[in-house]
Amino acid sequence: MRILVIGRGGREHAIAWKMAQSALKPELFIAPGNVGMKAVTAQTGAPVTLVNLDENATEALRDFALQNHIDLTVVGPEAALANDIATVFAKAGLRIFAPTAAAARIETSKEFAKDLMHKYQIPTAAYRTFEDYAAAKQYLDQQGAPIVIKYDGLAAGKGVVVAMTAEEADNALKDMLLDNHFGKGKVVMEEFLQGPEFSLLTLVNGEQVVPLVIAQDHKRAYDGDKGPNTGGMGAYSPVPVIPKEQIEWAVENIMKPTAKALIAEGCPFCGVLYGGLMLTKDGPKVIEFNARFGDPETEVVLPKLKSDLTQMMLDILDNKDVKPEFHDDAFLGVVMAAKGYPGSYTKNIPLRNPDELRQQVFCMGVKEENGQLLSNGGRVLIVLGQGKTLKEAQQNAYQGVKEMEHPELFHRSDIGWQAI
Ligand code: AMP
Ligand code: GLY
Repeated sequence: MRILVIGRGGREHAIAWKMAQSALKPELFIAPGNVGMKAVTAQTGAPVTLVNLDENATEALRDFALQNHIDLTVVGPEAALANDIATVFAKAGLRIFAPTAAAARIETSKEFAKDLMHKYQIPTAAYRTFEDYAAAKQYLDQQGAPIVIKYDGLAAGKGVVVAMTAEEADNALKDMLLDNHFGKGKVVMEEFLQGPEFSLLTLVNGEQVVPLVIAQDHKRAYDGDKGPNTGGMGAYSPVPVIPKEQIEWAVENIMKPTAKALIAEGCPFCGVLYGGLMLTKDGPKVIEFNARFGDPETEVVLPKLKSDLTQMMLDILDNKDVKPEFHDDAFLGVVMAAKGYPGSYTKNIPLRNPDELRQQVFCMGVKEENGQLLSNGGRVLIVLGQGKTLKEAQQNAYQGVKEMEHPELFHRSDIGWQAI
């Protein structure tokens, strides 16, 4: 069994670590991966090869998979999905657990996602789409604040402004529609919703929707959910503020109807359909969909999965019934980032070897020079704590964080606050 994982972050490290534990005894190839992922071999016995190919080198990745007899490919980053890697691989007769670019529009185009939800009555915030600043400004004057402004396209998690004042909203509109900060495009203006957020990752093939346990991410950079939005500063699972019935409701009324809607629209989904949901007074509503594993949710959800992920993906691709089992333990991950992130940040911070820790560490942005591990990105690594309770998992995680601490790194000290 030869598996190719595409991507280079903590998410892909967790995917590779979990898939490597399969009873199928796989050999792993990760393109391009990061040097921290080599630890998977010592932990699981599975051979791991880092392949020096960029996530976006679609044809080169296909040729690599053909030449190396890859049996299954799993894709992390959305950019690769937008390049339609799933179609390119399928045309070459390669098995890939990833949606086509057409199906991935559920993530890559906010307008597509909102229109789909509207058409199929999937609960989400009321919205309007604009290309023209004057029209958008007029709508803002009618609606007032708070209001949410979203750039329609990939903006690395930075294209969303939750504007508490009309002035903030107007500045965001000017930025996106007049100054074309993220490129020429549209904006979606959305009703402001309130309630606890949670991430529901499901493994999907056509109509089959297999939910994993939910997680909660911490998007803001600093304690108390203050500061700029980031790719995610920590996560934990389970999420006790969300009752079990609400999760089941969301699977039946949001995730399954969305999978059916994508079939009806001629772009059936295969891969990870991720619901970014909010439990409002009127029940769960969709904040956003992603067409891939979430980062850092994956780093806490996959450790909680007891079942064989590799086998699950193969079974789902074969349209076999899949019933995953989960560990009872709680998992909580704390991201350690370079000072300055998500703005411009310190680079080449020397890091302690995470293998020396008792805690599992997933590497997000690291490299090696002359045998020394160095940071190589804004989010550097995530330290995972495990425990009978979330409190215990949190204590464990922060003990590990203490051991990795460096004056040029920072982390949030309140991951899991809503639950503990
Ligand atoms: P998104 O990239 O769409 O997930 O948005 C990033 C963050 O902005 C979300 O995790 C929410 O915290 C917030 N957000 C997005 N849409 C809304 C909304 N309609 N109401 C309130 N908050 C929102
Ligand atoms: N954790 C949010 C995301 O993966 O988009």
